[in-house]
Amino acid sequence: MTGSTFTQTPCYTLGDWDNKAAVRVRKDDYRLPEDLEQQLWVRDWFPPAFVPYIEHPLIKAAGRSIVQRLEANHLVYFLDYTTLLEHRVVNRSVETIVHGELDVTIPNMMKTAALQLYTDEGYHALFSNEVAEQVAAMYGIGDRQTPRRIERLLGMIDKIHSKHRPLAWFLMGFVSETIIAKELLAITRESLVSTVYRMLRNHLEDEARHSRYFSEVFQFLWAVLAPPQRDQAARMLLEIIGLYFEPDASWLMSSLASVGFDEQSSRLIIADLLQPDAHIQRLRSGTVSTFAAMKKARFFDNEHNRQLFSQAGFIDG
Ligand SMILES: [Fe+2]
Ligand SMILES: [Fe+2]
Repeated sequence: MTGSTFTQTPCYTLGDWDNKAAVRVRKDDYRLPEDLEQQLWVRDWFPPAFVPYIEHPLIKAAGRSIVQRLEANHLVYFLDYTTLLEHRVVNRSVETIVHGELDVTIPNMMKTAALQLYTDEGYHALFSNEVAEQVAAMYGIGDRQTPRRIERLLGMIDKIHSKHRPLAWFLMGFVSETIIAKELLAITRESLVSTVYRMLRNHLEDEARHSRYFSEVFQFLWAVLAPPQRDQAARMLLEIIGLYFEPDASWLMSSLASVGFDEQSSRLIIADLLQPDAHIQRLRSGTVSTFAAMKKARFFDNEHNRQLFSQAGFIDG
């Protein structure tokens, strides 16, 4: 075996999991800091770059305490979303690998890594919920509706014939795990409340390993799928990727209402976010690792797949 071949060989592991995974080695607690009040003079609950309407003149005019409350709303929403996603989507996806639901022979190493990943996600849900509860209690955030993305993903599964569901679950995990690392990377660059930063950084370090693992498993699976399954998977991927980047207009409206904006002002504030172009832009910048893995699996070598994705505007024609 040549050196270059060796480096390209997938390993289907989470690397040095015992000495790297947050659940194994990070003993941090996730209580809010004692000097929270001082920290909030200069730090954010959530990166302003991830509250896309924060630069809107109506928000700017409302002042710092309104911005801070909107960021707190966003943080709680994001963490509630994470907790649900880890349990209901990612770990459900991992189950298809562990329990032979995909009708392919899974190598032992791949199965062990899947069991480790499942454990990681359980821990991420635990600390995400812990921080969400503290911030929600602090601001009296009572209306914790299920994020639209979760409802859309679960709704899609309901509509799929039972024999294709394991594949759909797997693909949802693959898409989620290859976009989350990039989302978290952008988040942790910002100046955040120390507990939030620590939590997101610990999460990110695990997710970098998960993203690599899911990319490898996708390539493995794609190589053994029969052509009709590949066609089915291509259509499902198009739908899944599209809905991962849809805005949650109903939640945004309720978040803005919680700080006193009326319906007309709120609609003005989120108008740009709801444009189809904005959806495509978010999608293209968030799916770099997802599309890289699909390219490696030779997904786009198929002319039909390439057309499907370029017609949707997801890739260049
Ligand atoms: Fe996670
Ligand atoms: Fe993950």
